[in-house]
Amino acid sequence: MKTGNFYGIGLGPGDPELLTLKALRTIQRADCIFIPRSDTKEDSLALEIVTGYIQGKTVREQIYPMTKDKSVLNAAWVRAAKEIHTEVAAGHEVVYLTLGDPMTFSTYIYLLRHLGELLPSDTIHTIPGITSYNAAASAANYPLLTGDEKMAVIPVPANTENLRPILEMFDTVVMMKVAKKLDEIIQLLEEMNLLENALFASYIGQKNAYLTADILPLKGTGKGYMSVLIVRRGRKEDSLQK
Ligand SMILES: C[S@@+](CC[C@H](N)C(=O)[O-])C[C@H]1O[C@@H](n2cnc3c(N)ncnc32)[C@H](O)[C@@H]1O
Repeated sequence: MKTGNFYGIGLGPGDPELLTLKALRTIQRADCIFIPRSDTKEDSLALEIVTGYIQGKTVREQIYPMTKDKSVLNAAWVRAAKEIHTEVAAGHEVVYLTLGDPMTFSTYIYLLRHLGELLPSDTIHTIPGITSYNAAASAANYPLLTGDEKMAVIPVPANTENLRPILEMFDTVVMMKVAKKLDEIIQLLEEMNLLENALFASYIGQKNAYLTADILPLKGTGKGYMSVLIVRRGRKEDSLQK
């Protein structure tokens, strides 16, 4: 029997209009759709994004534990990879949906490692998605890079003082996984006189999306969850180009 194919698909940050045509067409052609969901969440945003396009298709949720225990996580990825392998080996076109871009800070990468041991490489395909920070920058008409500028994309470090040299070295710094560190970052930006250069964006592409360049009032609001902070040193020159 002919082997099927596996497609890891990036859905973008939440707005179904930010799906690529390639993602959409691949989802519409699929025999079986795998959707990851954490064991602490009732709803799957990935499912919501594609809900208009998957009527009549087999949808299988894979539950992933919200834990940092590597052996528990590894067992979940091995299980997920085996389930996917069974479908592909049966000749099916299988898709696996991920938020944002699959290759950017995504647990999809761990799944991919396990799938690589089970499936021939020419049956494994990844379709890129728009990252949260790309969507945020465009939504705010906030340039990321021009000319020979350099950009760093980083998860916020446990010690936010470690951000200082990164903010000094790069023209643009995209901070992801902001969460509880928002107040400390604001403090640092204030000290470095960079508050006016920043863009804050949370839940981009979703119903409760929030975008602001007025950073100081965010202090103490606890709004850091599902957010990115972008700081661009040349921001003031961008603003002059009216
Ligand atoms: C595990 S990473 C996933 C990144 C994702 N693969 C991407 O391409 O954007 C999770 C982090 O991405 C950022 N993020 C994901 N979705 C977001 C959204 N809709 N709005 C703002 N930030 C988001 C937040 O910093 C969050 O802590």
